[in-house]
This record gives sequence, C-alpha cells and structure tokens, in this order.
Amino acid sequence: MKVLLVCLLALAVVSAADNAKCKKKCAKCPLVERSSCLAGMEKDHECNCCDICSRFEGEECDMKDDKHKHGQCGDGLECRKTPGGQICQCVWNEMVCGTNGQDYNNLCQLMAAAVREGLQETLEVDHVGPCKNESRIVGPPRYIKNNTNENVVLTCEAIGNPVPTLKWEVKRSNGKTTEMPGDDDHIMIAIRGGPGMFKISGWMQIEGLKKRHEGDYTCIAVNKHNADKATARIKVIN
Ligand SMILES: *[C@@H]1O[C@H](CO)[C@@H](O)[C@H](O)[C@H]1NC(C)=O
Ligand SMILES: *[C@@H]1O[C@H](CO)[C@@H](O)[C@H](O)[C@H]1NC(C)=O
Repeated sequence: MKVLLVCLLALAVVSAADNAKCKKKCAKCPLVERSSCLAGMEKDHECNCCDICSRFEGEECDMKDDKHKHGQCGDGLECRKTPGGQICQCVWNEMVCGTNGQDYNNLCQLMAAAVREGLQETLEVDHVGPCKNESRIVGPPRYIKNNTNENVVLTCEAIGNPVPTLKWEVKRSNGKTTEMPGDDDHIMIAIRGGPGMFKISGWMQIEGLKKRHEGDYTCIAVNKHNADKATARIKVIN
C-alpha cells in the first residue's frame, strides 16, 4: 500500500510539472498555416493543444498505438512497414484525373495539391484513371555513360487506359534497329504493372557492358489509341 502511495505521489508530481510546462506551451502555440499541412493537422502529442501538421505521404510515421516518435499519418494515409522504415502511404493506389485536367498518382496527391494551391473548394476527382486514355510515357529512360563491364539499367514508366504494353528497341551505331532483348544474353528486360490499373514500369538491364551495346535505346508504350516513345543513349567509354 505504501509503495503504491509513493508511486501515485510521484506520478502526481510529474504530471504537475507537465501541467506547468503545457500551460506555458499552450499559451503560445506557434501559428501553423493550413496550407503548409498537405495531409491535414492534428494536436501536438505532448500537451494536445497546439496545431501541428500530420505526416504526409513518404514521411516517417508511428503506427496507430505506438509511442510518439515521428507522428501520425494524415488524411487518407496509413503508416506501413517498408524496407526503408515506417512510411506514410496513401490508402488508394489508383491514379485519378482532377477536375482541373491534371493527373495525380493517387487521391492523396490530389488532396495535397488542393491544399497547396488553396483549391479545397474546387479541385475534385473528375474520374479514376488518367485524364487522357492515350498511352503516354511519364518516366522516360535517361542517358547513361559508363565503362565496359559495368552493369547499367534503363527505366521507363508509362500510363494509359487501357494500360499500355512496353517494348524496347535499340538503334546501334551501325544504323541497324533491333528489338530488345534479341539474343544478347547480357541484356535482361523486366516489366511490372502498377501501382494501380493504369500504370506500367519497365527496366532494361545490361550486365557487363560492351562497346557493341552503345546506341540509342527507345522505350515504346502502346495501347489501342496510340504509341508513345522515349529514347536515351547508352555511351560506352573505355
Ligand atoms: C477513356 O476510356 C474510358 C473507359 O474506356 C471511357 O469511359 C472514357 O470516355 C474515355 N475518355 C476519353 C477522354 O476518351
Ligand atoms: C557506372 O555504373 C556503376 C554501377 O551501376 C555506377 O556505380 C557508376 O557510378 C557508373 N559510372 C558512371 C560514370 O556513370
């Protein structure tokens, strides 16, 4: 009984100190602009009185019932364990077309844009999926310059409705164009759909670069509406 009393007393002392601290803190909360909080606001974890921004997509976060370390994810976001730590991710992974005619990777991105641009009243989802159905490369491959025997990767990301298929072609320095990977066992191609129903990503990896691999590599994204292309050069030095 005595022990319990002592404990209770100690607790009371601590919370009194907290109270004083919070009184001070709550009396002069820093002003937080709504437009700087892309996923909404919450009250601070310490005294529960001052506005703070909730964590946004891609930021580190705490699981719902865990002790405070980074903070909670905001509107439409969920704290998930990833290889890179606990990260806020949007609960919807389908891309959406806004009423402003702009594509957004997901609804969280659209809501964030509305906050950032002060358009909460007007910017809404026009429909799920890209604004235009035509196939379009949104993440083109990039120029690579590297030494022989290195491993290099070109990437390509496309959207469309229906989702495009991807293929690669190379135009070598001798002017000949061939489809990849052909019969070159240094070259590997991987394709993955998503995230969502309208996106596709492709990789072309060359293991052990040789001089003959130099050329212009074109990613071609095709659906029933059209074909979109993007080209990047691989330059082999030494
Ligand atoms: C895009 O495709 C969808 C589904 O096939 C269709 O409902 C929509 O009208 C199309 N949009 C445009 C702009 O063509
Ligand atoms: C060549 O590729 C390697 C492995 O991918 C990379 O670490 C290096 O930075 C590249 N070198 C150049 C000059 O880009």
